[in-house]
Amino acid sequence: MKEVYLDNGATTMVDPKVLKAMIPYFSESYGNAYSIHNFGLDAKSALEDAREIIAKLINADPEEIVFTSGGTESNNLAIKGIAFENKDKNHIITTKVEHKCVMESCKWLEKQGFKVTYLDVDKDGFVDPKDLEKAITDKTALVSIIHGNNEIGGIMDLEPLGKICKKHGVYFHTDACQSFTKTELDVKKFNLDLVTLNAHKIHGPKGVGALFVKKDTNIKQWQSGGLHEHGLRAGTENIHGIVGFGEAAKLANENHVKHMEKLRDKLIDGVLKIPDTKLNGPKHKRLCNNANFSFKSIEGEALGGYLDQEGIASSTGSACSSGTLEPSYVLTAIGLDHEGANGSQRFTLSRFTTEDEIDHVLKVLPNIVKRLREISPLIR
Ligand SMILES: Cc1ncc(COP(=O)(O)O)c(C=O)c1O
Repeated sequence: MKEVYLDNGATTMVDPKVLKAMIPYFSESYGNAYSIHNFGLDAKSALEDAREIIAKLINADPEEIVFTSGGTESNNLAIKGIAFENKDKNHIITTKVEHKCVMESCKWLEKQGFKVTYLDVDKDGFVDPKDLEKAITDKTALVSIIHGNNEIGGIMDLEPLGKICKKHGVYFHTDACQSFTKTELDVKKFNLDLVTLNAHKIHGPKGVGALFVKKDTNIKQWQSGGLHEHGLRAGTENIHGIVGFGEAAKLANENHVKHMEKLRDKLIDGVLKIPDTKLNGPKHKRLCNNANFSFKSIEGEALGGYLDQEGIASSTGSACSSGTLEPSYVLTAIGLDHEGANGSQRFTLSRFTTEDEIDHVLKVLPNIVKRLREISPLIR
């Protein structure tokens, strides 16, 4: 059976070139970057090379890059680290369409006595800069707003939001896990103080990420046990992972973006020919690899299962938790009702996706939708 992986928003295949670059750091240059012998110096040099690659891609200085264990750790460090180091202020602003690890970090802070504003978004998942400006008070320490949305694919226009944060002297953080290397991300142009990145969405390894922390930012170290990564993280650096992250970032290029955009548009045009189907998220200003649809009268879980049987890996916008189907809070925030949210399916491409694979999906999907609608209890 033909296998088609269209869940690259969840994670990607490690590029064989990335794997090749990583291997020597398991078995040859396996020193600790803090040791002062040659093994250690080799590791340190690889660490600093990767730091330079990542920094350059976002227009930052290498000293402003802190390597972490991934997007989740970076988001936790950014949000909790700023909140606890700037306690004269007790207010955080975020949005209703963030990744779960941002949402949960904010909810945890609320339990510690901080106040959090969750901004509304429009039907495409975008924040109105006027709403941000209205929400800022003299007690606001941090604004955290996602860049490329992991569910609906919208690319937030960070520039006007960054200007507002700068004007009010408020730290500005973005979670750029999905957008890194796929669209412009310039920390100076967007007035960013903190940026979350990770490797496994760009054909790098899992378990490695980075936080950009602008020079002179007041941020609290969250872990005890060592002063690694400019004093912001404790623990021996994951050198092979970091080398893989650097290599993956170096390999990503504009041609990959164009390739994904072309196939994404073919997929969107083809799927929208199926009756009673709608695209979730914006038509333009959209991540090159994301397509998210709602299929009327269909349960996303069932659709995902049937697609899987045909060898097609996608993901559903609803989460099945403890026996109840909870609609995605992101889809709810952009105004979808229960049926629309539960009938959603996300297809996320990579630079390795082929036109043949998209053709296969477009051949198989209409029949699955037809079959599911024939047995749908939602159609009377
Ligand atoms: C937008 C976004 N933020 C954060 C994360 C978490 O990253 P990680 O899996 O590296 O912890 C993800 C990945 O699922 C994501 O898509």
